[in-house]
Amino acid sequence: MTKRNVSVAEPILGKQEYENIEQVLDSGRFLQGPMVEKFEQKWAEFVDVEHAVAVSNGTVAIQLALNAIGLEPGDEVIVPSLTFGSTATAVVHQAGVPVFADIDRDLYTLDHTDLERCLTDRTEAIMPVHLYGHPAEMDEICAFADEHDLAVIEDAAQAHGARYRGEQVGSIGDVGCFSFYATKNITSGEGGMVTTDHDDIAEQIRLLRSHAMPDRDNHVDLGYNYRMSELQGAIGSAQVDRLAEFNDRRREISERLLKELSDIDWLEPATVRDYVDHAYFWAPIEVDPDVAGMTGKEIWEELQERGVETRHRYVDPLYEQPVFREHRGFNSEFPWSVNENDHDYDLTLPNVEAVAGNTLGLPNHPGLDDADVDYVIDTVQEFSETLE
Ligand SMILES: Cc1ncc(COP(=O)(O)O)c(C=O)c1O
Repeated sequence: MTKRNVSVAEPILGKQEYENIEQVLDSGRFLQGPMVEKFEQKWAEFVDVEHAVAVSNGTVAIQLALNAIGLEPGDEVIVPSLTFGSTATAVVHQAGVPVFADIDRDLYTLDHTDLERCLTDRTEAIMPVHLYGHPAEMDEICAFADEHDLAVIEDAAQAHGARYRGEQVGSIGDVGCFSFYATKNITSGEGGMVTTDHDDIAEQIRLLRSHAMPDRDNHVDLGYNYRMSELQGAIGSAQVDRLAEFNDRRREISERLLKELSDIDWLEPATVRDYVDHAYFWAPIEVDPDVAGMTGKEIWEELQERGVETRHRYVDPLYEQPVFREHRGFNSEFPWSVNENDHDYDLTLPNVEAVAGNTLGLPNHPGLDDADVDYVIDTVQEFSETLE
């Protein structure tokens, strides 16, 4: 087999992105102009919501969403323990307290059966993450939120175009948050979007993202500069048109990889519920280190050496990260994190512990051709034979 180097993620840019960028450069207007507006309109239409508000990245999308649902200092937000850090750091940035829930053993998304344990008199919101592109169990999560009068913020940063029971993610909870970071299903370089059907939430986010200035002279709230630039809007608005096509190819590649590798005894392709459309941000497999005789990290290194780049995350639960364990921030500690409920994050959650460090994402981006996919399959199979 001739060696190849198959990358795990690559932005795919076309003629329209270049033309849009040229248009922005010619216009001399770099902020909050027609390109950002076009991106917002197209994204609202795609997600099927009333409002899409563009911001600088996915992390601040979450921060502003938390503000707009009315989070106050010391209020608690239930988040899954195995996800990218900013799901939880954004809560702290907004003066809230992340409360870490276990994950579903099969789906890796927030375990709704653990919500009751996490609920306190300070709980204000639940933030499910549609991890790796598979929607979280929204029916159960929203039912729990309704029962306890909590907001639901969907962290859809990894799930552009995923559907749960026919509904686009980002349109199911009160607010949805997306990231358009360079490796995502579509990109704007850096970028984020907040989606909602609530006029008041959209209005608050529009105000806060630009210094909370409704006019040239007044700052009416604690605002930020979290705007999206026209250059980002130029790329993003062109990419939206290609998302369905990109996702079709991602799905085709991922389904083929997961099917053809399913006989290997040291790995388990991730579960996909039949009532979802997976966005396959990842083509995830779970490694059994006892059967493989190697850790997830060692396998990741081996495959890398053989020319197959994979993702290997999330290795440590968020409740073990120093930032949360030691309440590290603000050159001091979180002043509000040790509230009357005293969350010390000294947790050992069974499903999180079983999964952490054992998931790998195979290369599945739409820029791969069939020969690349063949190479990934052959390489993983060949590597497997060395383990026997
Ligand atoms: C689950 C999740 N939430 C939030 C974010 C934050 O997005 P950004 O990198 O655009 O700030 C990411 C980014 O990768 C993510 O994967």
